[in-house]
Amino acid sequence: NIMQLSDDPVLQILPFNAKIRFPIPHPSDKGSIMYRHVEYYPGDPILSLVETFKNDPRPEKVNLSIGIYFDDEGKMPVLESVSRAETARAATPALSPYLPMEGLDTYRSAVQHLLFGKDNRALAQGRIVTVQTLGGSGALKVGADFLHRWFPEARAYVSDPTWDNHRGIFEGAGFEVGTYPYYDPATVGVKFDEMTAFFNTLPEHSVLILHPCCHNPTGVDMSEQQWDEVLQIIKTRKLIPFMDIAYQGFGGDLDSDAYAIRKAVEMELPLFVSNSFSKNLSLYGERVGGLSVVCPNKEEAELVFGQLKFTVRRIYSSPPAHGAYIAADVMNSTELYALWQNEVYVMRDRIRAMRQKLYDVLTAQIPNRDFTYFIKQRGMFSYTGLSVEQVRRLRDEFAVYLLDSGRMCVAGLNASNIAYVADAFAEVLK
Ligand code: LMR
Repeated sequence: NIMQLSDDPVLQILPFNAKIRFPIPHPSDKGSIMYRHVEYYPGDPILSLVETFKNDPRPEKVNLSIGIYFDDEGKMPVLESVSRAETARAATPALSPYLPMEGLDTYRSAVQHLLFGKDNRALAQGRIVTVQTLGGSGALKVGADFLHRWFPEARAYVSDPTWDNHRGIFEGAGFEVGTYPYYDPATVGVKFDEMTAFFNTLPEHSVLILHPCCHNPTGVDMSEQQWDEVLQIIKTRKLIPFMDIAYQGFGGDLDSDAYAIRKAVEMELPLFVSNSFSKNLSLYGERVGGLSVVCPNKEEAELVFGQLKFTVRRIYSSPPAHGAYIAADVMNSTELYALWQNEVYVMRDRIRAMRQKLYDVLTAQIPNRDFTYFIKQRGMFSYTGLSVEQVRRLRDEFAVYLLDSGRMCVAGLNASNIAYVADAFAEVLK
């Protein structure tokens, strides 16, 4: 019965530092039989909080939890570039046949140009393959399935900390997942020496999930020089870098945010890249992403491409069309691309302005505390350094929602709520 089940954790002591899971009985379990053994899912830490926020009746509530860009009016924007592409497409109603397993050709080449640069030699050499995926998560899943199938001995390593779903997706694909040292709360920087020392202990073909820009959740990125060093270790030790880029354009600019990706290609590393247009095209629900694999030569690229298609076929057959057409229309038109680029930079600059404002207000209120990290961190997220207790107080007393880890989505701040949020921060920090 259920008591026995919960008292007797079906527990595998994993030899590796994977999470240990206990079956958790559903709190309202009435003793059904069929699914008694099914483990209760307590919900995703990010997505559950969004639901709690939605149901919070307090009018002053502020959502700084999920990574969504909101404009200064607190609204998710419809980008003008996207809206023009939508209007043009709506003018000629089209059939909706299946896309091929790998997705839309014009979209896939646009992704390649954006990530690797139009003139990248590896593209001309035909050794980069790209499949359209269901957002960045879909790309991670297809890549993880492929890697686990063809490198079954390999382990995967995520940064400490990382976006929770990195671990989830790689474990879901069958990987044992470990962590590598990354964030240093003492310096609000990267534990660079510890991290590189750790990389230097890893066996060949270990998979490293890396964030090329706008690290989620910390907002703490490596410098170009640090990337060079890391990539050299990856090359020497024959590791497999898997770069997940969901915020291209929100850190430096569209090109400099791809620095690590392009450098890895230049160094001829066997690179995996998952990318997403959820944030920078504000197309969250369309699930527009891509998985690119950089191969040593065209022949191997063809083998990999075939297996990626096969992987897709076995998960969801082929990707949805609409978002990919819109993204391709924006990126393949000189005019819409220029408009889009500018819109990305408007979002980036607004996030930076909010960081500065928060820094200014908090520094004025608590002058003996150093808040420079708010302006140094890049992208949507900031690790605020707030404790779980402080985060809970913000939520309970002020209706200000951050993740329990202390991660704040800076893009949820705006002219109308920033003073309120800063005051609430100051209150719980005192
Ligand atoms: C986030 O980190 O908040 C976003 O990437 C959204 C998500 O799916 O978790």
